[in-house]
Amino acid sequence: MEKFYITTPIYYPSGKFHIGTAYTTVFADTVKRYKRLKGYDTFLLTGTDEHGQKIQTVAEKEGKTPQEHVDEMAKMAQDLWKLMHIEYDYFIRTTEPRHEKAVQDIFEYFLQKGDIYKGEYEGWYCMPCETYFTETQLVDGKCPDCGREVKIMKEEAYFFNMKKYEDKLLKFYEENPDFAQPEYRKTEMINNFIKPGLEDLCVTRTTFDWGIKVRSNPKHVIYVWLDALTNYLTALGYMQEDNSLFQKYWPADLQIIGKDIARFHLIYWPIFLMALELPLPKKILVHNWIVMKDGKMSKSKGNVVYPEKLINRYGLDATRYYLLREMPISQDGLYTPEEFVERYNSDLCNDLGNLVNRTISMVNKYFEGKVPEYNGTPNEVDEEFEKFTNQQVKKVEELLEKYEMANALQELWTIISRTNKYIDETRPWELAKNNEIEKLKSSMNHLIENIRKIGIILLPFMEETAKKILKQIGVSKELQTWESLSMQNQLRNVKVIEKGEPLFMRKNMEEELEYLKN
Ligand code: ME8
Ligand code: MG
Repeated sequence: MEKFYITTPIYYPSGKFHIGTAYTTVFADTVKRYKRLKGYDTFLLTGTDEHGQKIQTVAEKEGKTPQEHVDEMAKMAQDLWKLMHIEYDYFIRTTEPRHEKAVQDIFEYFLQKGDIYKGEYEGWYCMPCETYFTETQLVDGKCPDCGREVKIMKEEAYFFNMKKYEDKLLKFYEENPDFAQPEYRKTEMINNFIKPGLEDLCVTRTTFDWGIKVRSNPKHVIYVWLDALTNYLTALGYMQEDNSLFQKYWPADLQIIGKDIARFHLIYWPIFLMALELPLPKKILVHNWIVMKDGKMSKSKGNVVYPEKLINRYGLDATRYYLLREMPISQDGLYTPEEFVERYNSDLCNDLGNLVNRTISMVNKYFEGKVPEYNGTPNEVDEEFEKFTNQQVKKVEELLEKYEMANALQELWTIISRTNKYIDETRPWELAKNNEIEKLKSSMNHLIENIRKIGIILLPFMEETAKKILKQIGVSKELQTWESLSMQNQLRNVKVIEKGEPLFMRKNMEEELEYLKN
């Protein structure tokens, strides 16, 4: 079995996750389920990024130790992923001793081979905030956080020699055009950071202590990004006694990240891996943001939407559907409550829900629930319908292979609409009245066949709904596989449910907008 290793970023456990943050992980989970359905041996990694100044500050504000705080937050994250049916294979926490030890080993290894050197860090320092700022970060020459005086300070620090790897990285980009997706993200990196000259990266801090200490000089704490990025390796046992998972799954096949952390994953990460003499990931997929009408979601603006709010009222599947459907590949996805309710009513209730319901009741009415076989005599309407469906299924698969989830769903919905139209084209109620039994059999058979295909394609996106559909139409397990998408006229002894419960209940727009307003 071919392996497929997928990662999400590890999350800062600084507060509750909103629908934007949840997006990366829902996306990754959908890819994993799709790959598994296609027969891959998959491994999905997620986790929490628990060190650093930011976490220490949040914990202090809450009157907790950093460890208490991250323990609670890691649990919160795991509960949310459980609620969202995220099937991760491992949840890494960067406070795990095995991770901390491996990061220390990596640091010492870089030191010993000269990739990390000791130097001096110079910057504008704000005493009360204990933070360094660059010239450009200052506001009117003062601390951008508290507005007080800052002064130039120097201190001992360690640096990673990025310049040494600049040409190698450019060469790698050139030889691996598929490394960054979309490709323009790579161009951005080259133009904004590499062409102007890569700066060596300061990889230690002494201004706080919530982090992994440098083993050979413990007054220094390792920079949180060097600590965090290596999670993708340490979670698999890299630099540990049992590294069998690492042997099996590395290099990553797909690493999914949001655009705000592209620089870390497209520049520093490949360079760290080169320095470790490890193979690089096959692909880093950079997605955009989910934004609100008034811009980025933020607590201070009060425009944050939490996944629980949507899940509690509309169910997990409607929430996953909306997130994956609304995010075009190279634009931000706009969340509006109106659009959410509209999609719920129109895509899920009307298009999908009604198709399944109508079809099942017709099979019950005309054939006592037993899906009829038909003699396969060519018939223009049916042939055209089959051809269209087969083409669309191929299109959906091509888009899934490119991880274009929103487009794949859009094309799937074209199949759903076309199937609804097929009911109007074949007019089963008239066929029944006129006793055109062969045609009626063919119509019912084709409808169930298409619903079966729709159900299979929905499995990675909304498993519960997909399983309900497949169960309601009563097809056997062999007809629920990805390969079986290419089968036609294979339904034998299939019996649909007598009365299927509706998949989604229509909602009233005004009531929902009232519920959804912040
Ligand atoms: O960046 N829409 O963690 P994080 C879509 N710890 N995605 C969004 C988003 C939005 N509105 N807001 C955030 C970190 N994200 C680091 C990662 S990896 C070695 C270390 C995404 O908790 C963001 O792009 O700030 C990222 O992919 C994920 O949420 C976690 O962000
Ligand atoms: Mg962030």
